[in-house]
Amino acid sequence: MSTSSRPHVLVTGGAGYIGSHSAVALHEAGFTPVLMDNLHNSDLQAVNGVRELCGEPVPFHQLDVRDGEGLTALFTSLEEAGTPLQGILHFAAHKAVGESVAHPAMYASNNVGGLGTLLEVADAHNIRNLVFSSSCTVYGEPENVPVDESAPFQPAESPYGWTKQASERVLTDHAATHPEHRVALLRYFNPIGAHPSASIGELPLGVPNNLVPFLTQAVAGIRGALTVFGDDYPTADGTCIRDYLHVMDLAEAHVAALKWCLAQKSREAVVRPFNLGTGSGASVLEVIRAFERATGERVPYAMGDRRAGDVVAIWANPSRAKEELGWETKRSLETALADAWRWQQALKTA
Ligand code: UD1
Repeated sequence: MSTSSRPHVLVTGGAGYIGSHSAVALHEAGFTPVLMDNLHNSDLQAVNGVRELCGEPVPFHQLDVRDGEGLTALFTSLEEAGTPLQGILHFAAHKAVGESVAHPAMYASNNVGGLGTLLEVADAHNIRNLVFSSSCTVYGEPENVPVDESAPFQPAESPYGWTKQASERVLTDHAATHPEHRVALLRYFNPIGAHPSASIGELPLGVPNNLVPFLTQAVAGIRGALTVFGDDYPTADGTCIRDYLHVMDLAEAHVAALKWCLAQKSREAVVRPFNLGTGSGASVLEVIRAFERATGERVPYAMGDRRAGDVVAIWANPSRAKEELGWETKRSLETALADAWRWQQALKTA
């Protein structure tokens, strides 16, 4: 099937980590991903990787999600070409907790303002299916684990967390006055790893904040030893517990969520949150050990102080996604870590 005859789907933040992997999964499922990204925190390398994996020149537009005129021109040109958008996977947003504390207005403008602009233009073009990149951060420190979608939001620990809560609220309020809108709120736990081909992966700018990119850079000798943030938490080995899922599993969840949107028959708007995780947690030390098992490499690390704002332990109850989206993770922690390492090595030799 050629690119032009497939249903077209906008991928905002399409040059980003999760956006690029989801674009590949969309293409594999028979859609044409239309990539859009302002390239502020991403690189054309990811677009080239997506094109290589898809085996065709998937469209890319350098555009900011707050640029309403640019969005209007893009949506109109797709309509005129006979390939109107069937839906949107919306990833474009800032995502660093620490940076959000330093720049809350920038986070509000890009993450919440950008969503508002996108919704207004989408409405004008009758686009009703939207898959939103949310986060388990909306739950804060949960009272019970595994956490399910009915768990209450806790007051946001950071401006970043607030933008995810606020965006979910904007989408819910918006749908209340827009019948036939279908919105999947995907609450990601901790995505890690890379496409097994090592053609795309995470490209953190500067010193990585997240565990796995820091760990792979430490093993590659680009950074000093990994600091384990706290070993005196009330967990079995004293380190924090998270639910790490392979980014390709997460990418496939976006395809499942889009199909779910497209299959809804109700005339009423439908807005539904889904937890996306494996259903089990791993501590920081368990991740280090799993990496060593999967790759045969030794991880240089040292115990350090707790990091402000970290929750102790959170992992998903992903059964709603299994029952309603027909999705569950297929790849192990070891596979994800081996793929992260393969990607790190490809970067080093690139
Ligand atoms: C958090 C959010 C997640 C959000 C992400 C954005 C929660 C539960 N999760 O992920 O929703 O999308 O930020 O960046 O709020 N660690 C170390 N050393 C390091 C780095 C991390 O020990 O150098 C530890 C952390 O303390 C944590 C674990 O590794 O226990 C994972 O950290 P990270 O990868 O940064 O993700 P979260 O903070 O869980």
